Amino acid sequence: MNKIIKVFFSPSETTKKVVNLIAENFKEENEICDLLYFNNEKEFTSDNIVIVGMPVFAGRIPETARERLSKLKGNNTKAIAVVNYGNAQVADALVELVDILQENNFDVIAAASTISHHSIFDGVAIGRPDDEDIAKINEFAQNAIEKIENGGSLESSIPGNRPYIDYKQLPFIVSCDVNKCVFCLECVSVCPEKAIPDDDPADVDLDLCSRCTSCINICPENARAFTGEAFKAKKPAFESANAERKEPEFYF
Ligand SMILES: Cc1cc2nc3c(=O)[nH]c(=O)nc-3n(C[C@H](O)[C@H](O)[C@H](O)COP(=O)(O)O)c2cc1C
Repeated sequence: MNKIIKVFFSPSETTKKVVNLIAENFKEENEICDLLYFNNEKEFTSDNIVIVGMPVFAGRIPETARERLSKLKGNNTKAIAVVNYGNAQVADALVELVDILQENNFDVIAAASTISHHSIFDGVAIGRPDDEDIAKINEFAQNAIEKIENGGSLESSIPGNRPYIDYKQLPFIVSCDVNKCVFCLECVSVCPEKAIPDDDPADVDLDLCSRCTSCINICPENARAFTGEAFKAKKPAFESANAERKEPEFYF
């Protein structure tokens, strides 16, 4: 029997939301493989169907996510590939995701780029995915189900370049307000790069930190945030440059 596996890396949880929306269209039971936490080898069978969702970081798949995703192997396993971005640029992220999956013996049958609220610049793509996005994502899922029933692999060419653009680390500081922090250490557990020490969660190792936002998203006290001059200087210009609505795109 087919089983759906939801594979995602989703620090601020919008990519997870998109993957869940797609999965809800299937009648088969589903399982989660959350790459924020899962960092082991895993092999999928030919009757599994994987829905793989990755956020776009600097026009690429986040480095940590890429490493973890590369440990998952298919057996001609059908896959739906989705990159979810903050209304700025997809650049080479979807090509990269499809390449990783195909290299690891997944049979990609459909792919998409979707838009969600920007996890760093919170004035961009507010409220997305919205009802219009959700309707399109559901239609995509239904078309993917039909394609799985009828057979056939991905035929469309995906926009993007090889070699992929260089991955650029953002220079922003992730800080912790020590007056708000209650030492629950949720941030320490969630950080995929282990950049937050448990004896002092304010002392982030910015060389290890990928600025993924998982610590900001999980903090129950809202103690963590992007701060610093570079962030403050970039925010208004970035938000006005990326204000125009972009639409999701689907490939079969
Ligand atoms: C480090 C970092 C880099 C990002 N780079 C891009 C980008 O190149 N293009 C874009 O449109 N959005 C970019 N974003 C925004 C995310 O792709 C977007 O908010 C996505 O929905 C986050 O997914 P998540 O909620 O699953 O974490 C970036 C976010 C982070 C944290």
